Amino acid sequence: MQKKWWHDAIIYQVYLRSFKDTNNDGIGDINGVIEKLDYLKSLGVNTLWISPHYDSPMDDNGYDVRDFYKVSEDYGTIEDFKRLIEKAHQKGMYILTDLVLNHTSDEHPWFKAASDPTHKDHALYKDFYIWHDGKILENGEKTLPTQWVSWFGGPVWEYNEALDQYYLHIFSKKMPDLNWRNKTMRESLKSMIKWWVDLGVDGFRVDASNHLEKNWDFPEGKPGQEHFSSLPKHHEYLEELGEEIFKPNDLLIIGEAGGASKEEALQYAGNQSNEFNLLIQFEHCWVDGDEHNELTPGKWAKGEIALPKIKNSFAKWIEIFKDKGFHTLYWHNHDQPRIVSHYGDDEKYRKRSAKMLAYTLYLMPGIPIVYYGEEIGMTNVDYHDLEQFRDVEVFTEYKNFIENGASSAIALQALKDRARDNARTPMQWDDSKFADFSDVSPWIDVNGNKDFINVLNDTLDETSILNTYKSLLKLRKEEDIIHSDITFIDLEDPHTFFFKLKAKHHDYYVLANFKSCVITATLPSDIEDYEIYKTNMESPINTNYFNPYEARIYRKKK
Ligand code: GLC
Ligand code: CA
Repeated sequence: MQKKWWHDAIIYQVYLRSFKDTNNDGIGDINGVIEKLDYLKSLGVNTLWISPHYDSPMDDNGYDVRDFYKVSEDYGTIEDFKRLIEKAHQKGMYILTDLVLNHTSDEHPWFKAASDPTHKDHALYKDFYIWHDGKILENGEKTLPTQWVSWFGGPVWEYNEALDQYYLHIFSKKMPDLNWRNKTMRESLKSMIKWWVDLGVDGFRVDASNHLEKNWDFPEGKPGQEHFSSLPKHHEYLEELGEEIFKPNDLLIIGEAGGASKEEALQYAGNQSNEFNLLIQFEHCWVDGDEHNELTPGKWAKGEIALPKIKNSFAKWIEIFKDKGFHTLYWHNHDQPRIVSHYGDDEKYRKRSAKMLAYTLYLMPGIPIVYYGEEIGMTNVDYHDLEQFRDVEVFTEYKNFIENGASSAIALQALKDRARDNARTPMQWDDSKFADFSDVSPWIDVNGNKDFINVLNDTLDETSILNTYKSLLKLRKEEDIIHSDITFIDLEDPHTFFFKLKAKHHDYYVLANFKSCVITATLPSDIEDYEIYKTNMESPINTNYFNPYEARIYRKKK
């Protein structure tokens, strides 16, 4: 297989709004990313995925695009963006942007024309979106076309008085879904994508890619997601983009398709696929649910971490892509809680558990995506008030919890455990008032633990999480871990995360206790041939006794 530039990619996701503010308006910006390129390079990453930078009313932090051709004034100018690309390229780094194709903002000129019957191009643009008449009940009352539930909670339909019809929005009501069956609409989006390619971006992360097609019979269903997600025809649209734009321009395309099936995997991102190069599917991200929780249900219900599910998921996806594509390695992104709070311990064992999570993830084959702040073990929020949250999803869901009968304390706790804002707080650069993210109070509160969790602290401490990330990412390159062979050990064990790795120069064992209890485990029978190469404990201990979250990397003696 022909070698592509991105086969060596180590990706870092920058949540632009929260990374670094250079003009002191409390909002992260493009110049902030430029300022931190050397930091990122020294961490060992070479590819940045930048969350949406387009003009937007920011109902969903930029996933609601008002003008695809304009940089949001919150983030800078097109000149800043060009400079980012230029500077990154000079340093041998690549820039991926977020491509939001499922919907626009309701403030996008297309939707304005679509929803205004007096607009001269009304008919043309109306069909860029998805409209439906209300349903008339037997008693004559008019109601929503279907009971489908949006990914942010609440109905997917919003009434438009001027048209006396409803439009579909599977996310917030300020994000009307585009009609991908409309060829003119598709052509307009394709011109836009080409425009950014010509400007020099090296690839895209395709947002919400599996939702592009809808069931136009609009059958009844609650929540009804099978009618607006992962319908076979969305692959046709992605292929069209792939054949016409992605492949000819040698771009790296990462597709977000939550819940993608094993059957679809190679269709999305196999070596022969025309759609993506890498797939993000989230199977391992929500394995600590509690189906009995009726007050804060679904992803909001926190239960025991089912480690076998995490391991089996990695094993499954690595196997699917073995020799047929590339597996994507990530603990989380801007839509899940912070990993050290979620699967580790953000208090007593924060440092140890964050390193354990790094050892296990970053020594597996595949192409990694580090999420900003993960490299210093940033945690979930320390908020005490609903008003400190910012995410549009939070407010609908909080209302739902209260309606379900949850107390405000229980509802708030669910947010503190699960809300997307957990992973969106300002990057903690040092312990100053606003963590050197900004000189002014930022758009979302800084976590109080910036006093001890920050880049500066971690830089000075040899044993820090940051320095662990640096050394692991370096090891990945030296040992070509992307292409290594992995054998998982005892996938069903609820405590241990054990695997053997055949890398370019050495064989390794990664042996980790994923849980907060002490355990005794059976070590591999040939462990005598290996020695401890790295550990998250103060000194190496080669016994079958594992402390909470203890993790060891063994390397085969020559
Ligand atoms: C994706 C994004 C998420 C956004 C949604 C709608 O899931 O990751 O942040 O809210 O799409 O664009
Ligand atoms: Ca700013």
